[in-house]
Amino acid sequence: MERKGRDGRRGGGFFPNKAAGRKFPVKRPDGKEKGWDGVAGWYDKLVGVDGSDYHQNVILPGVMDLLQVKAGEAVADVCCGQGVLVRHLLDAGAAKVLGVDASGKLIGAARQRHGSDGKVDFLKADACAPGEWADGSFDAAACVMAVHDVPDAAGLMKNLSASLKPGGRVVIVMMHPCFRIPQESHWGWDGDQKIQYRRLDKYGKALEIGIKTRPGLGTDEGTVFYHRPLADLISEMGKAGLGVTECTELYSHRRSQVGPFSKAEHRAAEEFPLFLGLRAVRI
Ligand SMILES: C[S@@+](CC[C@H](N)C(=O)[O-])C[C@H]1O[C@@H](n2cnc3c(N)ncnc32)[C@H](O)[C@@H]1O
Repeated sequence: MERKGRDGRRGGGFFPNKAAGRKFPVKRPDGKEKGWDGVAGWYDKLVGVDGSDYHQNVILPGVMDLLQVKAGEAVADVCCGQGVLVRHLLDAGAAKVLGVDASGKLIGAARQRHGSDGKVDFLKADACAPGEWADGSFDAAACVMAVHDVPDAAGLMKNLSASLKPGGRVVIVMMHPCFRIPQESHWGWDGDQKIQYRRLDKYGKALEIGIKTRPGLGTDEGTVFYHRPLADLISEMGKAGLGVTECTELYSHRRSQVGPFSKAEHRAAEEFPLFLGLRAVRI
């Protein structure tokens, strides 16, 4: 018996509701993406100054732990969104932070929050296309919750690599591609064994999945989620000259209220990671 709904209905945060059907029009008639400007207001509100629940408790601590920023370093925050990571980089001692994002509206929100700090700059740019920012001058780079939001993972990896000094490091934290695929991963309940299990309907091929951010509105507001098998991602990193040195899997901090299913839910929360973190160095 399926007791739980699909991934998004539980979580809040990044997939508040994935009732979006596969025919949801996530691209323009010319086949290009609509980008994140149309959802910028929703996303900025969701993340706020301190980050979503998952940002605060799992994602940002995971990023900072892998990145190990040292005083005086220059750090690129690639696909920075509305700038939720910036304060953490500065607090850790970064002397220069450049946030890069394709959404002018999210860059605008980031500038409003951090633009007055002389150590911080923002650039509206496609992180998958060659750009002046990918100039080999950064000690470190981060790409947080965005690898699955860009259409060209190979281009992104090339630019992350090109942004770094030789020996520089990049940290990627993303939805775990083996356990969280919108519309294709679900929780289920096995009443005989009394276990909550994770079910995956697809994994092995790249997928483009339309995400309706606020289905209740009845508009076509949404984004595209690009699922890629883990081997493809790591191979793209290798081709871009990024050697993985550390991998971490991040689990939900959330625990359900005491009830008939809570033991099984706790076990599942400790067994199935939600996010994947990778640290790689430019070889
Ligand atoms: C889920 S948000 C994550 C933002 C931020 N890192 C965070 O953790 O809140 C994904 C971001 O990727 C950005 N993005 C998507 N495609 C992009 C591209 N080709 N170049 C640069 N940014 C892109 C979006 O504009 C959006 O800000």
